[in-house]
Amino acid sequence: MIRYGIIGTSWITETFIGGAMGVAGMELAGVYSRSAEKGRSFADKFTAAAHGKTVPVWTGLTTMAASDAIDAVYIASPNKLHYEQSKLFLEHGKHVICEKPIAIHPEQLKELTALAQEKGVIYMEAIMMMHQPQLAALKEAVAKLGRIYTAHIDFSQLSSKYPAFLAGQNPNIFNPAFCTGALMDLGIYCVYLALELFGRPERVRIDSQFLSSGADATGDVLLAYPGCHVSISYSKVGQNRLGSQIIGDEGTLTIDSISQLTGMNLHHKDGSVTPVWGDEAKNTLMGAEARDFYRYITEPDATRAEYAICQERALQVCELLETLRHEAGIRFIE
Ligand SMILES: NC(=O)c1ccc[n+]([C@@H]2O[C@H](COP(=O)([O-])OP(=O)(O)OC[C@H]3O[C@@H](n4cnc5c(N)ncnc54)[C@H](OP(=O)(O)O)[C@@H]3O)[C@@H](O)[C@H]2O)c1
Repeated sequence: MIRYGIIGTSWITETFIGGAMGVAGMELAGVYSRSAEKGRSFADKFTAAAHGKTVPVWTGLTTMAASDAIDAVYIASPNKLHYEQSKLFLEHGKHVICEKPIAIHPEQLKELTALAQEKGVIYMEAIMMMHQPQLAALKEAVAKLGRIYTAHIDFSQLSSKYPAFLAGQNPNIFNPAFCTGALMDLGIYCVYLALELFGRPERVRIDSQFLSSGADATGDVLLAYPGCHVSISYSKVGQNRLGSQIIGDEGTLTIDSISQLTGMNLHHKDGSVTPVWGDEAKNTLMGAEARDFYRYITEPDATRAEYAICQERALQVCELLETLRHEAGIRFIE
């Protein structure tokens, strides 16, 4: 049994727990919250339904990391905290699955990857697309597109926190003190897919629009490859209604959701359409990463190569995001 604790008590943690409930062998065993009351009500809500046990609630991270009650942790705190929290738990020999972006700087990621290796534990980014069967289906469809000259990857999603920002509040997602903003929140998915399908680009260009807080609200990126251009757009202040497209001379793959890899259709050049993947509930989607986390922990030999690919891709993404931030002038208060 892998007993995991959680950091962060927002909807994304609830969704992850919902996904992990489908993984036999994973059990929610403790909750961290800055508020004991919030932590208790969160813990009871999920453990009562799952196994009826009362699990510990911590308001101190060091006590949690040192506790024998957990073997692993899922981290879903604001981006800025990912590095220091992951480090604390890795130092205590806990397996870590951390929300995207797993780290802000590649040096941080390299340091913690080495630390995880030294401690003999798993350290991975919670990025849904790398763990879903849809990724293989997408790649199979891409192989049928012929020569690909162009791809347009878009993840523009109007933030539920934008009205609060407009009303003069300072939500974490638009606060550069938390290393957030559109590129780190949504652009990261587009970068993941581009690297997964096309590898490292030869050249990059980027332009961003900024909010008064200093956070980037939108971004447009051009990744240049020999014979192919990938354009990426993302926004937290407007909604994409057209999806993404990978365009080849034999056909076009349309993708409704780039983060979930759902709503995918292969349009052949004769106009016919082959469905590639439909819709999925989000907790099912997050269940795939929870299952892989569990497999990497419990079947290290069988999953070594797979885990290494995830680590390598996470580092490539982290490096490219840093390059893009530099080019766009996206600055955090660190
Ligand atoms: N995979 C996905 O689809 C997905 C979707 C959304 C978000 N995410 C990722 O999940 C992470 C959390 O995102 P979110 O939107 O849930 O963030 P958030 O609401 O700003 O914060 C998440 C949790 O962190 C704690 N927290 C909030 N402000 C804090 C502060 N100032 N200092 C310390 N702790 C604080 C809160 O828990 P307590 O009050 O209980 O301490 C809160 O529930 C981000 O890294 C984001 O990129 C992933």
